[in-house]
Amino acid sequence: MALPQVFLDELKQRCDIENVVAGYLPLKRQGRTCKGLCPFHSEKTASMVVYPESQSFYCFGCGAGGDVISFVMRIENLGYIEALKLLAGRVGLDFPEDEREDPSLRVKPMIYEINRAAARFYHDCLMGEGGEAGREYFLSRGLSRKTIVHYGLGYAPPGWDKLRDFLHSKGFSDGQLIQAAVAAQGKNGGCYDVFRNRVIFPIIDLRKNIIGFGGRVLDDSKPKYLNTPDTPVFKKSRNLFSLNFAKGSADGRLILAEGYMDVIAVNQAGFPNVAATLGTALTSEQCRLIATYAKEVIIAYDSDGAGRTATSRAVGLLAEVGVKTRILDMKGAKDPDEFIKKFGAERFKLLLDGAGNVTEYQLSVLKAKYDLDEPDQRGSYLTEASRCLAAVESPIERDIYAGQLAAETGVGKEAILQSVSANRKRQVRQEKKKEWSAIQSGRGPALAPGGSAPRSTAAAIAEEGIIACLLSKPEEAARLEGVISQKDFITDEGREIFGIIIERLQQNTSVSLSDLAGALTEKQMGFAARGLARQQGIPPAADPLGDYVRRLQGARLKAQVQDAAQSDDAAAALAEELRRRKQR
Ligand code: UTP
Ligand code: MN
Repeated sequence: MALPQVFLDELKQRCDIENVVAGYLPLKRQGRTCKGLCPFHSEKTASMVVYPESQSFYCFGCGAGGDVISFVMRIENLGYIEALKLLAGRVGLDFPEDEREDPSLRVKPMIYEINRAAARFYHDCLMGEGGEAGREYFLSRGLSRKTIVHYGLGYAPPGWDKLRDFLHSKGFSDGQLIQAAVAAQGKNGGCYDVFRNRVIFPIIDLRKNIIGFGGRVLDDSKPKYLNTPDTPVFKKSRNLFSLNFAKGSADGRLILAEGYMDVIAVNQAGFPNVAATLGTALTSEQCRLIATYAKEVIIAYDSDGAGRTATSRAVGLLAEVGVKTRILDMKGAKDPDEFIKKFGAERFKLLLDGAGNVTEYQLSVLKAKYDLDEPDQRGSYLTEASRCLAAVESPIERDIYAGQLAAETGVGKEAILQSVSANRKRQVRQEKKKEWSAIQSGRGPALAPGGSAPRSTAAAIAEEGIIACLLSKPEEAARLEGVISQKDFITDEGREIFGIIIERLQQNTSVSLSDLAGALTEKQMGFAARGLARQQGIPPAADPLGDYVRRLQGARLKAQVQDAAQSDDAAAALAEELRRRKQR
């Protein structure tokens, strides 16, 4: 990296991890560490720990971890250099001029350029000769020409190479098209168009860059929608469709729908403050993005069972970032697009204005399920309703709803409140238990997030320990020469990080966690931070590095014995070796 070490050191000095993290979420000091709700996954009890001493953070719930720079990269969805720039700007440090070295700085603009050219191409195909099929499709779905232009909608013609050839003529190479994921690698070299014979929805971020596309078939074939896979500029879990349009008009309120066509129909009906997730369930990252300018979200998901489940999930996730929710109680149509087509924009406006909060919505769903004239069913209604009221935080609101239920069923309000309170206690207990067992089970410290389980947990712990020792005392690396090498590591992360550390030490570059932020992936960063986190949780050993090395060698041998189980001779030899070591 071409950045001068003085700059990096000064930046680290000025950007204390505790301060920076506290700018994003409330932290609670606990002795030498701080705790907070992890912003990278959904949780109700804090499992992210910030360690001011090693200037690192680690989440025991999801395995996210790293230093201050990787925290900012992740929470702001930025590349390494971009994150450095942001931090430098915040603390009034001038960013060194020469930045040509960082390849990610060149890749992103290149992909934006390709996407822009591709969007233009798709749009021209839709509007021009040969675009009849696409135009007819959008017309059949009730979109006006104005809407089509506003959203920059397009049509990807049939055939495997139309876009590819067009982008070649603009000077882009196969490799670049594949990086942007508008084309995919062909079997015999070369590449082919990803979107073929589909109508196209460009996805635009808040900085007005085109970051990806959604493409829908014109008939009933499958898959109905195809989305750009994750690329250096596009992460499905971090973006929302149409947020760029919704942002300016939101007045603190956002309508959240499920699909592209819902968003466009709602927008066309006169409500531009609408957005949708991109073919995935709502994530906490998207919620944080929403929370930056919307105080209230009206959830307008499909009215089917899946939509209801997704709704209650979204309510919880949005509550965690402090966003209030109301829920559209849509009857007579499966989604907002269909509703508007059937009943018109005015009725949709009434629906929006009348959208109740979660509790009202849940109670109305329950009420529709039971016949309150039947005593039995009244009982079941009350049982379920008091479970639902147990989740209401405000005692005043609980009191009001209990009053309503009492009036509806003729059961005393006090009795209802008692049942609610019993349910509340149970729910809190269960919640605690669930989160605790998630941490205790593999999802906690022993496993890498989203990765495969290491073959040996003991080895993974030892490797994390070795890495942590090297990060805090790089001078000890010399002791490892001839003792262990890269190939002795069992986990991919351990092996890769060890290699990077050794290489940097040989070049006399420093290897603290933040020096590695630009070189390690998110997962590797989490691995290293976990080692540091573990180190701070245990009393210091006399020779931690030596201990970890012995533990790794032991774990390796054990794994080899297991592997060699088929071949008896090898197994016996290894078992003998293992025995000898134990006696030492
Ligand atoms: P739906 O299947 O509910 O489609 O998917 P829809 O929005 O009603 O679509 P139309 O009205 O038939 O055009 C909702 C969203 O889920 C994602 C898309 O983002 C879609 O808008 N999805 C759906 C996919 O990504 N892939 C699929 O195959 C289907
Ligand atoms: Mn639909």
